[in-house]
Amino acid sequence: MPVMAPIGKVTLDAPFFQAGLAGYSDAAMRLVARQHGCPYAITEAMLDHFLVNGGKGLAAAQIMTGDRPIAGQLMGSHPTEIAHGAKILVELGYDVVDINLACPVKKIRKKCRGGHLLSQPDEAIAILDAVRQAVGDDRPCTVKLRRGSNDGDRAAANFHRIFEGVIELGYAAATVHGRTVEQKYIGPSRWPFLRALVERYGGTPRFAIFGSGDIWSARDIFRMIAETGVDGVSVARGCIGNPWIFAQARALMAGDQAGADRPPTIAQQRQVLLDHFHLAVRVHGQRRASLSMRKFGIKFSYHHPNAEAVKARFIAVKSLDDWHDVVESFYVKPQAAAPANHAQHVAV
Ligand SMILES: Cc1cc2nc3c(=O)[nH]c(=O)nc-3n(C[C@H](O)[C@H](O)[C@H](O)COP(=O)(O)O)c2cc1C
Repeated sequence: MPVMAPIGKVTLDAPFFQAGLAGYSDAAMRLVARQHGCPYAITEAMLDHFLVNGGKGLAAAQIMTGDRPIAGQLMGSHPTEIAHGAKILVELGYDVVDINLACPVKKIRKKCRGGHLLSQPDEAIAILDAVRQAVGDDRPCTVKLRRGSNDGDRAAANFHRIFEGVIELGYAAATVHGRTVEQKYIGPSRWPFLRALVERYGGTPRFAIFGSGDIWSARDIFRMIAETGVDGVSVARGCIGNPWIFAQARALMAGDQAGADRPPTIAQQRQVLLDHFHLAVRVHGQRRASLSMRKFGIKFSYHHPNAEAVKARFIAVKSLDDWHDVVESFYVKPQAAAPANHAQHVAV
């Protein structure tokens, strides 16, 4: 089984990590992932000026105990401001500073950030340079990109100019999502593009290439590595409401083929639901956590044999008590726990 290439001084014992996922990958989700064997995680993209202006943005960027190694991901449109944001991340103790050149959301693109910068190579390189200088050699810098703005020749040329800039500036790694900005999330992530990228830039000293896109199971992680040769794999939508993907990937690394397909038991689901909710309350406070956990509940419900009913109940959650009601109604106490596919043991 492959081991992940180091990210500068950051060494990992497994070739996968949890992606940045806006609206999801907060400290609560990251800590739950780590409990299941995820060795490294990226924050959701933070706007540089939210950090620079202090207040809630800065408060949200504090690192909780146990949540390391961690990359803080920044998004911005101005070299000076994003460099300032990067310095703040270093002061906060982030192990890695990651720059987002991938976000396809229109309101972000309109402000010339994220994926928009893929069509502006000079601006993108100026931003990458400013961040690298601000961070210095103390911490590694990494970047997240898509395979281009669109499928045109100009977009391809822009991508490679930026990618070569990333290497020249001494970035430690790049994660490439095999969809274009224009594509958003429609259609497949183009893994052959990742393969070609590894053939062209793989073997560059002190530089790792990670792949992203269409990782839905633990087996997909190792399939991407085998098919493309990437140094590591970013797990994104496949781990929302599914931290077990990391334990299953660890099982595969240990040669336990059956472990890769073993669904979480009801007892394991119950434990994660309670842990995730309590962590979310610590991170966001009870009211916000109750609302933000609904979307996770919907995803968690897919593991339950009575998924539709559980999902409907999670959608209606408004408070901590509501959350516990769903758990007590559908997820039996650990001592009576049964495998998830034994529906007869599940209280419904
Ligand atoms: C809801 C959502 C939010 C995302 N937010 C971020 C983000 O903040 N930073 C980032 O680098 N990528 C973000 N992504 C992109 C993912 O990290 C990943 O590259 C993409 O989902 C492709 O992988 P997948 O097909 O395996 O999900 C986001 C994706 C989704 C669906």
